[in-house]
Amino acid sequence: MIRKCLFPAAGYGTRFLPATKATPKEMLPILTKPLIQYGVEEALEANMSHIAIVTGRGKRAIEDHFDISYELEQQIKGTSKEHYLTEIRALITQCTFSYTRQVEMKGLGHAILSGETLIGKESFGVILADDLCYNDGDGVLSQMVKVYEQYECSVVAIEEVPMDETQKYGVIAGHLIDETTDIYRVTDMVEKPAPQDAPSNMAIIGRYILTPDIFDILRETKPGRGGEIQITDALLEQAKKGKVVAYKFKGDRFDCGSVDGFVKATNYYYEKSEK
Ligand code: UTP
Repeated sequence: MIRKCLFPAAGYGTRFLPATKATPKEMLPILTKPLIQYGVEEALEANMSHIAIVTGRGKRAIEDHFDISYELEQQIKGTSKEHYLTEIRALITQCTFSYTRQVEMKGLGHAILSGETLIGKESFGVILADDLCYNDGDGVLSQMVKVYEQYECSVVAIEEVPMDETQKYGVIAGHLIDETTDIYRVTDMVEKPAPQDAPSNMAIIGRYILTPDIFDILRETKPGRGGEIQITDALLEQAKKGKVVAYKFKGDRFDCGSVDGFVKATNYYYEKSEK
């Protein structure tokens, strides 16, 4: 059983400046909930109640969000506004939150390695909160847990993207091993390839289940594309041993790290809330 979910949340969020100058990108709200709260809800739905967050400088608002605010609670107690805090209170009761800092921003792979101290030697989920996923049935991480239970190796969530967008993603090559559930055995992975160099249009989105040997591999992984330690490079080492499967998830995903995706997600959730 996977109990822990890691949230790398140390990035600078430069695409959202100046909003992210003093506010973590993960705290930007879609309607009334910050992005990271949607992520924690998805993790809990997948039975991962140990929430491990990798933060950095200027990210304290995340810790305050997943804590009780006594003054506020007292202020609205017994008023018609109390229900606004019901969901976040339920999360705080059902989850435990632990934090560590990534001292230097050396990439997603490095952020995940910084989380080792919170994860230990067990398989774990990873959610990049700026990739917001919605599905009417099981959430994306829940779907991935089922895949992990079947294959007992690392799992990446993938989506087909237009060929001219491959340079925004890690892109996989693989062969289909289960047609009904859309699962591929990964044979190759390239970080942010130009369209002509991309092995396919199947892009990795911000959901992973990783086996704990990834930490030893990450320790040995040299900086790759952009001078950053890439999780894709570490996963490729596992893939070479046949130990990574890619799963085409069911649901919708919004890249809320970009203004365009953020606006689309806002409209989507607003329409849902109106129904
Ligand atoms: P992104 O590259 O999308 O996030 O990283 P960013 O760097 O915050 O945003 P931009 O590109 O400057 O606008 C994907 C995820 O990995 C985390 C980010 O917080 C985000 O959730 N990350 C990235 C880290 O935690 N540490 C890093 O060194 C890099």
